[in-house]
Order: sequence, then C-alpha cells, then structure tokens
Amino acid sequence: MQEIAEKYQVKQETLLDFSANINPLGMPSSLQQKLVTSIQKLAHYPDIRYRKLKEAIAKFHQLPQQDIYLGNGAAEVIFNLAQVLKLSQLLLLAPTFMEYEGAFRNYDTVFSYYLLAPHNFQVDVADLIAYAKKEKVTGICLCNPNNPTGQVIAKKDLLILLDFCRQKKISLIIDEAFIDFTPLEENSMISELANYQELFIIRSLTKMFAIPGLRLGYLLTSNQNILKQMEMITVPWHINTFAEIAGREVLKNPDFIKETQNYVKEEREFLVENLQKFKPILKVFPSEVNYLFLAYQGVTCLQERLLEKGVLVRKCDSFRGLSAGFYRIAVRSRVENMALLQALEEVLCEE
Ligand SMILES: Cc1ncc(COP(=O)(O)O)c(C=O)c1O
Repeated sequence: MQEIAEKYQVKQETLLDFSANINPLGMPSSLQQKLVTSIQKLAHYPDIRYRKLKEAIAKFHQLPQQDIYLGNGAAEVIFNLAQVLKLSQLLLLAPTFMEYEGAFRNYDTVFSYYLLAPHNFQVDVADLIAYAKKEKVTGICLCNPNNPTGQVIAKKDLLILLDFCRQKKISLIIDEAFIDFTPLEENSMISELANYQELFIIRSLTKMFAIPGLRLGYLLTSNQNILKQMEMITVPWHINTFAEIAGREVLKNPDFIKETQNYVKEEREFLVENLQKFKPILKVFPSEVNYLFLAYQGVTCLQERLLEKGVLVRKCDSFRGLSAGFYRIAVRSRVENMALLQALEEVLCEE
C-alpha cells in the first residue's frame, strides 16, 4: 500500500485499502488489551524455546508440541523450509502466492502448473498428478485456499494427491494461511500429518487475527528430522514477545474465528451479488475466503481508475500466469464494500 501511495502521490490514510487480505473485523479486542497491558514484558527476552506458545498451538490443533516449528510470519517458515528441504524439482501452482517461487528457486528447479481462467482457476488433481509424473517432481506445493484466486481444493482430492505423493515419496507442502476463513474441519489436512512424514502444513495467524505487522506463523509436520534442521538455521528469539503473547491469546478464542467466517461469508455474498451487475466487463470468480478475484475486460487500468476515487485494489499482473486485467479485492465491512461498489459504478460508467 505504501509503495502505491508513494507512486501515485496519494495519502495512505485517505485510501480505502481493498488490496490486503486481512480480517475485516480487525484485531480481536481482547488481544489489543492484552498487548497494551503487556508493554512491560518487552523489557525481557521471550522464552527461547517458546514452550507456552507451542503448548497453545498444540492444544488448538490437538497435535504433539514437537510437531510445531514457529515462524516470524508464515513467510519465515516458507524461506527456512525451502532452505532445509532442497527438493530439487518442485511443482508450484501458477498463479499462487509469489514468495514460494522466491524461496524455492534458490534451491530447486521450479515447474509451474498453470491454472486456467475457463476452469475458474480450479486445480484438477488428476491432471496435476499427470503433470507431476511427467516432470518427475520431488515436491509439490499448493496454497489451499489459493492466493490470489480464492479457490479451495476439496479434501477428497487432496487425499488422492497425498496417496500419490506417498507412493512416489514426493514431499507435499500445503499452505493453509487462509483456511480458517472457510469451515476449518472440512478442508484442513492437519488430520493427515501423522500418516505421512513428508507432509508439511504452513499456517499463518496474521490474516485471521489482523496482525501482519506483528508477524506469527508456523509449520506443522511429523518429520522430526526436518524440524531439527530448521531449528538449527533459526535465529534465536526470532518470535518477539508481543507475537508470542498474541499467539497464546488468540488461540484461546475459537469463537472469533467462527464469527469471522460468518461475517466474511455474508459480506462476500453481498459483494458477489452486487458485482454481477458489472458483467460482462467485470467477471467475479467463485471464492470461499475473505477476498475475491476479478477479471476486467476494459482497456484502462482498473487500479489506477479506482485510486482516483480513493480505493486501492490489488493488480495481479505480477503473479506468474496472469496477464493484465486480473484484480483481487478484499472482503471488508458493509459500508466499505458499498463504497467500493459505488466507486466501481462510477469508473465503469465512464468506460
Ligand atoms: C498464501 C499465503 N501464505 C503465506 C503468506 C504469508 O503470511 P505471513 O503474513 O504469516 O508471513 C501469505 C501472505 O499474503 C499468503 O498469501
């Protein structure tokens, strides 16, 4: 956001930011209070082994504490995992969260499995497996839900993929950074961790609990060998005291996640319904998360046009596999969503 504000010389504070996929309810108020009252704790080092935080995560997921590796955001997990795994031949979706390519390209040859607009950017698992066989990959990495498309791969398909990976001894990395915006139990692969040591699940707390500036994520795997190697390359005290407090606090409150899911579903449906009136120049793809993926057929840059109205959306042409004309918008509050629709109306009328 800062970069765009600087580029177009607009004041950041005046922009309505639909470019970041953060919980529209913001940070839980209990967390805000906890952080304010914990300020004195910054005068001490955090526990170097983060036992209480790991205990909270283990309890939340009903997993052994030893299966958890903490990260300064999921981003740190991704880069450290890439460094340790050294997969040599890795299959990535395209488009997907771009940091994967950045992290793994240093160690591996990256193969892109291109998702297609006519298929709503959905993953066809049988086709993906055929591609993985053809390229003889040693690792597959998927974001579920995917970013920027908002698509979810059904658990039954992931189980087929997991079976294939197990037979071929392929490492499977699943990024579930946005999975808690969808009904959790249905889609998460956490239940399979004990069954396959080469399964790596990445989670983030920065989106659901609106703490991207605080940074906290983690890796879940039963592969103790990889976890040990990751600990060896990790800088001591990489999780700051506030992030440690935040993790322990937010995981106590699953009701906040449920409340968010309901809120996001309602607002997403409101946006989808109202965006239909801009068809065919603007197409909205199906999504199950807190953001929507759009294809715009106009000749101008929708991001620039909306900026003139004080609204910032994410232009997606920098994602591998996407050309100009694709945009991502966050699901926000009703008032903000209405402001976005109004801005779109004005911009598209002028087209
Ligand atoms: C799919 C996905 N995974 C991971 C991340 C990084 O999350 P964190 O803020 O925890 O580093 C992002 C950030 O946008 C993301 O989209």
